[in-house]
Amino acid sequence: MDIVLTGDRPTGRLHLGHYVGSLKRRVELQNSGKYEKIYIMIADMQALSDNADNIEKIRNSLSEVALDYLACGLNPQKSTIFIQSQIPELSEISFYYMNLVTVSRLQRNPTVKNEIQMRGFKQSIPVGFFTYPISQAADITAFKANIIPVGEDQLPMIEQTREIVRSFNTLYKEVLVEPTAVLPNNQICSRLPGLDGANKMSKSLGNCIYLSDSSDDIKKKIQSMFTDPTHLRVEDPGHTENNPVFIYLDAFCEDKHFAAFWPEYQNLDELKAHYRRGGLGDSKVKKFLNEILQNELRPIREKREELAKDLPYIFDMLKQGSEKARIVATQTLDEMKSAMGINYYR
Ligand code: TRP
Repeated sequence: MDIVLTGDRPTGRLHLGHYVGSLKRRVELQNSGKYEKIYIMIADMQALSDNADNIEKIRNSLSEVALDYLACGLNPQKSTIFIQSQIPELSEISFYYMNLVTVSRLQRNPTVKNEIQMRGFKQSIPVGFFTYPISQAADITAFKANIIPVGEDQLPMIEQTREIVRSFNTLYKEVLVEPTAVLPNNQICSRLPGLDGANKMSKSLGNCIYLSDSSDDIKKKIQSMFTDPTHLRVEDPGHTENNPVFIYLDAFCEDKHFAAFWPEYQNLDELKAHYRRGGLGDSKVKKFLNEILQNELRPIREKREELAKDLPYIFDMLKQGSEKARIVATQTLDEMKSAMGINYYR
């Protein structure tokens, strides 16, 4: 039977990119009933690896992320939701893995490379940040998870985890399980652009729609979105590719939305054809996108507001999830130490 594990860094509220890139899939996996276990981890230690001076932000984000989870349909009865730092065994496992990974291998990890550049660390990379792929391998393997639903930027982490698993299993004993990444069904969902269309949706770039945004915020953000810069007048022919409004429609629009909000068209192909021919203004397309996103996000926001009234419940849920997760990680660590022959007193 398959075991699913995935997680997020608690550095703020979750946004549409997280939603289409991972959250939606998790809820589907959870509700399919096909998996033996589903673990959802709030990766606070990983978040701290470049936020040592900003503990407050990470701490405040724990409940924000947990609220986003439950609002999207993750159910603590079905999925174990836990906090990374509450499982000290993960750090111990990471320490043993550090001996199985070279510095040059870490330096080649394209996601870490990219993040180091984006953060402008230059020569001052925190060791904890540099080595977080190793800690992520511990997160995954401690639960013997084999299915990891993530966005495409996480593929290098999963690859590195697989290498660590193979090293460990060959050097010592077959204890660990090689994980497989499960990407969203389509390319767009794997890397949703931000409102600017130029970059991935990301908090640090300020180009996000958050799951907790008010209906007014959503509307304003959509109105401010970039479109086709060559589509100046309504009559002009427009481009739908690389046009963030259409990219979002590709990610969210279904035929039923036309029946509900814009019966002039049957489907997205017809709408795109009209836009390309000319004679269709951006504001109409944005209005349609707004209807779709409002429709998708309203129930999530309302559920979130309801849950936010009882934060003690949220923290209790996280505590229980962490206790459950810790039992499993402890068991794996035990097996690992036996395999390595370092359970000296037995
Ligand atoms: N690195 C992931 C991210 O930035 C978060 C994460 C930490 C994670 N540990 C994980 C994802 C284990 C999947 C599995 O989004």
